[in-house]
Amino acid sequence: MIEEDVILETRNITKKFPGVIAVNGVNFKVYKGKVNALVGENGAGKSTLMKILAGVYTDFEGNLMLNGKEVRFKNTRDAQEKGIAMIYQELNLLPNLSVMENIFIGREFLDKFQMVDYKKMYEESVKILQKLDLDINPKRIVSELSVGQQQMVEVAKALSLNARVIIMDEPTSAISEHEIETLFKVINSLKKQGVAIVYISHKLDEVFEISDMITVMRDGKVVGSGPKEDFDYNKIVRMMVGRNIKDFFVKSQAEISEEFFKVENICLKSKDDPNKYIVNNVSFTLRKGEILGIFGLMGAGRSELLEAIFGVHPKLSSGRVFLEGKELEINSPEDAIKAGIGFVPEDRKQAGLILSMAVSQNITLTNLKNVEKLIFISEKKENDLVEYYINRLNIKTPSPQQIVENLSGGNQQKVVIAKWLAVKPKVLFMDEPTRGIDVNAKSEIYKLISELAKNGLGIIMVSSELPEILAMSDRIIVLSEGRKTGEFKVSEANEEILLKAAIPRSMKIRETNNTIKTS
Ligand SMILES: Nc1ncnc2c1ncn2[C@@H]1O[C@H](COP(=O)(O)OP(=O)(O)OP(=O)(O)O)[C@@H](O)[C@H]1O
Ligand SMILES: [Mg+2]
Repeated sequence: MIEEDVILETRNITKKFPGVIAVNGVNFKVYKGKVNALVGENGAGKSTLMKILAGVYTDFEGNLMLNGKEVRFKNTRDAQEKGIAMIYQELNLLPNLSVMENIFIGREFLDKFQMVDYKKMYEESVKILQKLDLDINPKRIVSELSVGQQQMVEVAKALSLNARVIIMDEPTSAISEHEIETLFKVINSLKKQGVAIVYISHKLDEVFEISDMITVMRDGKVVGSGPKEDFDYNKIVRMMVGRNIKDFFVKSQAEISEEFFKVENICLKSKDDPNKYIVNNVSFTLRKGEILGIFGLMGAGRSELLEAIFGVHPKLSSGRVFLEGKELEINSPEDAIKAGIGFVPEDRKQAGLILSMAVSQNITLTNLKNVEKLIFISEKKENDLVEYYINRLNIKTPSPQQIVENLSGGNQQKVVIAKWLAVKPKVLFMDEPTRGIDVNAKSEIYKLISELAKNGLGIIMVSSELPEILAMSDRIIVLSEGRKTGEFKVSEANEEILLKAAIPRSMKIRETNNTIKTS
């Protein structure tokens, strides 16, 4: 690497928080026109280091060099003006504003009367969204978008800033295969224009595909750095966790006994269009000890199916739910929880956690206040419970009293899982349970899921990661455009079979046309 190509550099940077040295004497170089990948376990300090580069944290030890000169950003705005944009791991959009307002927030176009020029804003947004091959109306309110779409809006916003350095903190954790492909195309074209990308991901395959340079962090320090060719998968894992991981997917076969949970004809109508069904007549059964995988492409209605069963949309959903032979009357999540259903949701920020509360409170209190038998839990028991889950899931926190907001993204996800396990459900829904979780913790979570099944829990797991769903499930159902399009025993399934069932009919037709055209 030629030193002239270094656009941004940290020299011996340290950032401390009470009880934690998040970043410890880090030297990190960002090269122009390259994808600079940053990997490391949950809590290793990746996001914190990036927030220093992007002007979020201005108070740190050490030096930050931009084009060979020392800089101190006053704030994120200042960093943006100097060419550095960041897509945050915990998305940063304003949910009640439209897509276009979010893209251009703080730098709205003005017309000659100094009024916000919405027409221009709309047109510019359309252009950027087109570049990303995204079919989103710029006027839509962000809160109505899926997590994946929101993530792409963040990408659009960074693009619109014409940045020279774009930091992407886990940009693909919630987007579909197709969107990942598009994102990689965009990244490659940005590279050609000399833009430096800093790319954080726990998906190591992806890192090998897209990156040029790799840096590995562990416990706040850089433990390895160099061109991609210097690394391989096992080497990175060893550097990250200090050992090899032998059995990544841990699945010990649980004894699958009687059918005890059943849903019939679950439907969910669209909020915008009462004639449209997001979930259309889905039925399935679940046995004790069984792990049922739900696969589908983004927008297939996977999360919505679970939400409909769980009573999240009582006015729009219909269908029947049976547990242990009794029909349940579920009109709210509270009803579902009382009946013995737990739900680890996809978006931990929205539905999973109270960020301003302590780790311990999040694990024990929030959902339990309505569950009678747990009201009288003693403080001692509560502490034991919290300790148990912190150890079991290896939640990295200075103490159980730490505010959840201060944990790293992956550790927040572990708190969500702990919280739902503490409810001791009979049936557990898990929507993308390992999103944002490092390789080591992922393996731990698989082990835990497998054990839960062994203890007789029924588990329904939504995942867009094919290897994960194939390794962990006993049976898999596939959704496409809200309908069940396939059901397979895991022994009958493979990636190709699942994808075939998942591709919407409209896309299949397009594909055939393409083949005709190209051949
Ligand atoms: N605002 C904060 N206050 C206190 N501690 C913090 C704060 N932000 C981060 N930390 C701590 O600093 C450490 C590094 O966190 P960071 O978010 O940088 O990790 P990460 O490598 O991005 O992890 P992940 O892969 O889970 O996102 C963690 O121990 C975290 O709990
Ligand atoms: Mg992070």
